[in-house]
Amino acid sequence: MQEHYYGNPPRIERGWRHHMASTDGRAYLDMVNNVTPLGHAHPRVERAVARQLRRLNTNSRFHYAAVVEFSERLAALLPAPLDTVFLVNSGSEAVDLAVRLAIGATGRHDVVALREAYHGWTYASDAVSTSIADNPNALASRPDWVHTVDSPNPYRGRHRGEDAKAYAAEAVRTVEELAAAGRAPGAFISESFYGNAGAVALPDQYLAQVYAAVRRHGGLTVADEIQVGYGRLGSWFWGFEQQGVIPDIVTVAKAMGNGHPLGAVITSRAVAERYRDQGYFFSSTGGSPVSSVAGLTVLDALRDEDLQGNAVRVGTHLKARLEGLARRHPLIGAVHGAGLYLGVELVRDRVTLEPAPEETAELCDRMLDLGVVVQPTGDHQNVLKIKPPLCVDRAAADFFTDTLDRALTELR
Ligand SMILES: Cc1ncc(COP(=O)(O)O)c(C=O)c1O
Repeated sequence: MQEHYYGNPPRIERGWRHHMASTDGRAYLDMVNNVTPLGHAHPRVERAVARQLRRLNTNSRFHYAAVVEFSERLAALLPAPLDTVFLVNSGSEAVDLAVRLAIGATGRHDVVALREAYHGWTYASDAVSTSIADNPNALASRPDWVHTVDSPNPYRGRHRGEDAKAYAAEAVRTVEELAAAGRAPGAFISESFYGNAGAVALPDQYLAQVYAAVRRHGGLTVADEIQVGYGRLGSWFWGFEQQGVIPDIVTVAKAMGNGHPLGAVITSRAVAERYRDQGYFFSSTGGSPVSSVAGLTVLDALRDEDLQGNAVRVGTHLKARLEGLARRHPLIGAVHGAGLYLGVELVRDRVTLEPAPEETAELCDRMLDLGVVVQPTGDHQNVLKIKPPLCVDRAAADFFTDTLDRALTELR
């Protein structure tokens, strides 16, 4: 039941920095692995985790320094009043817990989510996942406590360009209508930069306006930073900074452990304390000594190797080169994104924006033949999502662009 990338997936057995190697001796440039921001097989993580495995790995009801240090380091990355950390093992768990925290703290059971979203596979994180690419029945089968608002996509949505400000007004209206019907939402959840829709920045002021409406009616706001946070966007460590807002609850995972299972929910003490009304929080391996050491080492390496800076430098170069390709290949409708989270959107017609999913799939297969791992995203599966390890260098960015140029030329 576990699905793969590709109809005929290569058997990948090794990784090094932003490269992967298969058992039949091929090397690939990895343009999708946002779970390994430091790059594959990072020696510092390997040494730290091995050392900790030799010393102690146990459940988090014991008291040890690493869990405290890691939690403090995480909290220090967030603005006040976000100072209280729950450690879990994955993004789905983090979103599930965030939804439970919001429901627990507000006593309200309705949640507003964006369409075209993916937030995880557990009951609550799946309930707020609305992407029809992941689940064709998603919109017809949400539980009645989940209310969806339009995917605020300024490129291909119902409101484009300057008109994209209408998305916030519509989402605010949904919140007001729910409140008027006695179902004011306990939470609004969204990615803070729309990764799942293809690395699309939310319209200016979108989160500020929607968060204000949700809070006016006593609800809490959740920023899912699982894909876009942790320095990947280059200019911002967290996606919500790009929107100039501070959420009530932040979910993080993927990048945190460089592939080791690790996730977190960070909120204010006031919200966290309400969790006690629902029981107590315990996750056997969430924040274990090994997980905490992995998390600390990732933060140290991100800082020491200036990988957020690298996301700006290489990401800016890569985006400019991709925009250059767009001038020559009409199939490229737009290049979205920031830092090292980019999306190349493929369309059959730049006026109608008819999506090109078959062409996108064909390109991904051809790119694999040519030694590059890249995959589609979005409800139409027509956006190449580009989210490589943050150590990717300029030479790799050039190789990627040249290979895409070749594959696009052959496609024509
Ligand atoms: C935005 C977002 N939220 C949550 C998740 C779920 O994370 P995990 O796969 O670690 O459970 C994902 C996974 O792709 C994601 O992209």
